Amino acid sequence: METQKLIIHVILLLCIPCSSSFTPIDNYLLSCGSQNNASLFNRIFTGDSTNQVSSFLSADKSISLTNQNPPPDLPILYHTARVFPRTGSFRFNVRKHGTHLVRFHFSPFKAQGFDLKAANFSVLIDGNLVLRNFKPSNGVLLKEFILKIESNLLEIVFRPEGNSGFGFVNAMEVFTAPVDFVIDYGARLVGPFGVVEYKNLSSQVLETVHRINVGGVKVTPFNDTLWRTWIPDEEFLVFKDAAKPAVSNQTPNFQKGGATRENAPDSVYMTAQEMDKDHAIIGSKFNITWDFPVAPGGVRHLVRLHFCDIVSPVLNLLYFDVYINGYSAYKDLDLSSLTVHVLASPVYVDFVADSNDSGVIRISVGPSELSSSRGMNAILNGAEIMQLVNIVDSRVVPGKKRLWILVGSIAGGVVVLLLVMSAFVLALKCRKKKKKKKPKQRTLESVGWTPLRVFGGSSLSR
Ligand SMILES: *[C@@H]1O[C@H](CO)[C@@H](O)[C@H](O)[C@H]1NC(C)=O
Ligand SMILES: *[C@@H]1O[C@H](CO)[C@@H](O)[C@H](O)[C@H]1NC(C)=O
Ligand SMILES: *[C@@H]1O[C@H](CO)[C@@H](O)[C@H](O)[C@H]1NC(C)=O
Ligand SMILES: *[C@@H]1O[C@H](CO)[C@@H](O)[C@H](O)[C@H]1NC(C)=O
Ligand SMILES: *[C@@H]1O[C@H](CO)[C@@H](O)[C@H](O)[C@H]1NC(C)=O
Ligand SMILES: *[C@@H]1O[C@H](CO)[C@@H](O)[C@H](O)[C@H]1NC(C)=O
Repeated sequence: METQKLIIHVILLLCIPCSSSFTPIDNYLLSCGSQNNASLFNRIFTGDSTNQVSSFLSADKSISLTNQNPPPDLPILYHTARVFPRTGSFRFNVRKHGTHLVRFHFSPFKAQGFDLKAANFSVLIDGNLVLRNFKPSNGVLLKEFILKIESNLLEIVFRPEGNSGFGFVNAMEVFTAPVDFVIDYGARLVGPFGVVEYKNLSSQVLETVHRINVGGVKVTPFNDTLWRTWIPDEEFLVFKDAAKPAVSNQTPNFQKGGATRENAPDSVYMTAQEMDKDHAIIGSKFNITWDFPVAPGGVRHLVRLHFCDIVSPVLNLLYFDVYINGYSAYKDLDLSSLTVHVLASPVYVDFVADSNDSGVIRISVGPSELSSSRGMNAILNGAEIMQLVNIVDSRVVPGKKRLWILVGSIAGGVVVLLLVMSAFVLALKCRKKKKKKKPKQRTLESVGWTPLRVFGGSSLSR
């Protein structure tokens, strides 16, 4: 009896960590320009100047900076930075191919003659230009990118721009995303043409622009399974009186096939905005609308909306419509049928839409025609807006490539010249001394090929 109980206890104890926390296979946390580890929200960032990680750094011209007068409340992680006066890179071994999250932390300061606010640089992840002519502003700024990595080595390049430009970074995170974090089917491309399926989302590079806990409070990385920050939605509400926050004190009923804790933490699904019918005429229909500032001019975005029916007393009562940029995006959304008929089960829906010329993405939810007067409502629990990064590199042939081509053509030219010369000499010698043909040919061959190997070697080793 007792041993049985103990075994069950042990099994339960073993199951708690594996079901409640996500452990990425690749997990690199670097405190840049530092010899010491620094912790932030219970995570340890390893100093990138320590021996164990210095192999990742292939920027021998980079500089480690330390802020001698940091503000008292600034986390230690932001007291140091790595500066790139010339192009440099970090390399990471990738154990698991697939979608990864890459985060950069920027917090400019002044030290050793550098004012990090004067930086001007571009960043490439695995050859994708993700930041161009970038100049971090005051305070702490995080940039998050989500992309598929299909090589064993991930290179992140910092490239200075302009005459006096240099690059810097205070900290970096590179880690494997949970399985099915970005799904290739089912996303709804919304526009004046209606709704069509958007395929192959996982092959896009995504940059997080907004991550919102609708109807809730700020969630810090400490309380998020993927160490994300979620902020409240109030400042984005177009008519504040249309919405009222809803809160549940029950943990969400996560279902197989629905959203997971890695898609959004409990606290996002346990709060929402619903229609504030107290402020409206009984039975009147209206939308709740949010405007999110994004990059202007038809820039494509992924809009991931999180839902969890925490407002309905019973199933099959709530039906509502979702609009993006004023276009119908999902008609008669029925959370009961999307969640295999379990109340308060989290789901998310992916939409793809373009920003307008003033750089706004507008999200609305409102009652559907199917709503009964009793069930008339509309909710939203969370929203993530991510830009599909598609920056064209103005430096199409970067300096390095141009040098390669130059070296290649010189080497090629020399080889051709040497081959022609050796053929000529060979022909001459053959005509003069037919007896000693073989040994002479061998020496000529080696003369002909040695320069190529020298060039080849030097161009490969840069
Ligand atoms: C820094 O962190 C790494 C890995 O998290 C650990 O192995 C190492 O012992 C730590 N170093 C110090 C000086 O605490
Ligand atoms: C950064 O450098 C680029 C390329 O030279 C230049 O066009 C841009 O104006 C610079 N940005 C700033 C903010 O100085
Ligand atoms: C989607 O990806 C698959 C496999 O990578 C490829 O064969 C297909 O052409 C892609 N489709 C589009 C529309 O890009
Ligand atoms: C984490 O969440 C709990 C419960 O909501 C809250 O009391 C706590 O302050 C949060 N911690 C951090 C570091 O955000
Ligand atoms: C909600 O917004 C959409 C898009 O702007 C609009 O077509 C619809 O009429 C609105 N619904 C209500 C009830 O106002
Ligand atoms: C962009 O959309 C917002 C919200 O719908 C609207 O206020 C703004 O006028 C639109 N801008 C343009 C240029 O259409």
